[in-house]
Amino acid sequence: MTGGAAILVAGGGAAAWLTTRSIDPVREPWRAAAKGGFGDPRLNAVAYAILAPSAHNRQPWWVELRGEDKLVLYCDLIRRLPEADPYDRQTVIGLGAFLELLGMAAAEQGYKAEVTSFPDGEPAPQLDGRPIAEVIFTEAPKVKTAPLFDDLLDRRTNRAVFAQDKPVTSGTMDEVAALSGVGGLFGHSNDPAQVDRLKALCREAWEIECNVQRTLDESTALTRIGAAAIRENPDGISVHGPMIELYKAAGFLSKKAMAEKGSTAHQQTISYYNNLIDSAMAFGWLVSPGNSRVDQLDAGAHWVRLNMAANHLGVAFQPLSQALEEFPEMEEPFEQAHTELGVSAPQQLQGLFRLGYAKRPAPSPRWAMESRIQVLR
Ligand SMILES: Cc1cc2nc3c(=O)[nH]c(=O)nc-3n(C[C@H](O)[C@H](O)[C@H](O)COP(=O)(O)O)c2cc1C
Repeated sequence: MTGGAAILVAGGGAAAWLTTRSIDPVREPWRAAAKGGFGDPRLNAVAYAILAPSAHNRQPWWVELRGEDKLVLYCDLIRRLPEADPYDRQTVIGLGAFLELLGMAAAEQGYKAEVTSFPDGEPAPQLDGRPIAEVIFTEAPKVKTAPLFDDLLDRRTNRAVFAQDKPVTSGTMDEVAALSGVGGLFGHSNDPAQVDRLKALCREAWEIECNVQRTLDESTALTRIGAAAIRENPDGISVHGPMIELYKAAGFLSKKAMAEKGSTAHQQTISYYNNLIDSAMAFGWLVSPGNSRVDQLDAGAHWVRLNMAANHLGVAFQPLSQALEEFPEMEEPFEQAHTELGVSAPQQLQGLFRLGYAKRPAPSPRWAMESRIQVLR
């Protein structure tokens, strides 16, 4: 090893220590939820709900507390993904996951959270300013608690390369379906030929998303490169770690470079994700009976429970959503995915996930709960 390389490695170690520490403040919401004690059962529940998964970690929720017992959930409309998700389907899934965790956390405190979805009607083809849901909290000491609540803080989207010597058995995936309560709406396969076909489809879809300038620009604008950028904007696609800090400091990695088709940064983004796709040991998918806004909210509830159930069983879970996106250039992969998985209208695929085994990552960044709430007395 040359002296220069040795310094780089040593520097990398120090940077690793620094960056892990410095993203820590935006992981605080995970600790705050566990501590609780916000003085209002709705707030104690919202503290958990904001830990829900959402597309590009946009955290599209906006909450109003009204009077003593009501909570109104809105979509923060600037947090949608108009290019990759033109009908806001993925945004509604995130909001459905939020409502599911809200209900679980309410039950845990002895409260029933009664949800009325889209009280002023279902917005279509895009969301508008109407509420997503109204929720009434009522004390109900005998309310049934959710068996997966204990897994809420351990749920992760896992973007590691999965172990190649640990297959995910059909029995384990059946357990995921049963434990999540999603049952037959969760399909899965570890058949090598089908897994290979799904990998190829996911790679193709990913490359389309990265090569259509509109969708590339949308995701690049939401990429937070390095710990300082993540702390400033704890949402979006966060990339961090010692090498990222070094590349950023050296000027190799920037949003501008990532958005430039054919640049090294652009190519590396493509191959990084293709590599993840290729390590899938099995695929799971989530079907909904229809594609109404209520179906999409239900899909969000199912999604987060599948994620928790998989993690409970030690199975790593990463959505690969590109092939299910509804912008015109994705039409073919969208059709292929539905044909491959035998899903036809009125049913629709709402989620496609790669499954495998890998170390559980640290929690993802979140905006503090206070920044997502308005109180009206
Ligand atoms: C509708 C939806 C679509 C998603 N699609 C992807 C995806 O294509 N690729 C990916 O890596 N993660 C995807 N995710 C996961 C989010 O990026 C993730 O939930 C977010 O970054 C927060 O991380 P966490 O789930 O670990 O809390 C998706 C999540 C949702 C709800």
